[in-house]
Amino acid sequence: MSLARGRGRRPVAATQAIPSITLAPLRPAHAPAIVRWLGDPVVSANLGLRSRPTLVRTRAFIAGSNTAAVCARAILLGAHHVGTVVLDQIDRHIGRARLHIYIGDAEARGHGVGKRAVALALALAFDELDLHKVWLTVHERNAGAIRTYESVGFAIEGRHRSEFLLDGERVDELYMGVLRSTVQVRKSARRRR
Ligand SMILES: CC(C)(COP(=O)(O)OP(=O)(O)OC[C@H]1O[C@@H](n2cnc3c(N)ncnc32)[C@H](O)[C@@H]1OP(=O)(O)O)[C@@H](O)C(=O)NCCC(=O)NCCS
Repeated sequence: MSLARGRGRRPVAATQAIPSITLAPLRPAHAPAIVRWLGDPVVSANLGLRSRPTLVRTRAFIAGSNTAAVCARAILLGAHHVGTVVLDQIDRHIGRARLHIYIGDAEARGHGVGKRAVALALALAFDELDLHKVWLTVHERNAGAIRTYESVGFAIEGRHRSEFLLDGERVDELYMGVLRSTVQVRKSARRRR
């Protein structure tokens, strides 16, 4: 999928100006693209992957991607699969889950897709799974991801010193979280505008 880019670092297209962004259950047909994307150093280094995924392991992940503890979704831009968002470590007692995301299709990055997909994953977590909090970790140099998370309500809650290996270099990892109440307040404020 080709999307117009601006001259600067910020994308020209707002979410509303591009095809609709939706989440769909992961299917075996998504596996080849996932394996390809997780082999892209931009994705693998920022996620902190320790090994290269295989088709067999990815199919097994997809088979177990909709359980009490894991809820993984394909990110669709119109009809095109462009990435994956995952809620895992779902803890019903505390009411929390961890979030991961990547936009695997490089052309789809920087156009509001990640922000919208995280917002949809939060709606899934809070409205459907009835959770209280979503948390994640991100290395301190991943400015785009940090901005994406902040833009939907995540706040930095802690710093894990030297807990991320980025191309062999130890960097700090940030712990970020968002509460259901924060998202609800932001939604109400938008409705009043
Ligand atoms: C991080 C990622 C999911 C963000 O998705 P995206 O579609 O590229 O981001 P968006 O276009 O939705 O941008 C969301 C916000 O971040 C900002 N942003 C995006 N990339 C940026 C960058 N490189 N530097 C600074 N800000 C950036 C946007 O301007 C936007 O801010 P705004 O809400 O104030 O306008 C995506 O770039 C990605 O998958 N990267 C590789 C894998 C990765 O890092 N995953 C996260 C691991 S924790």
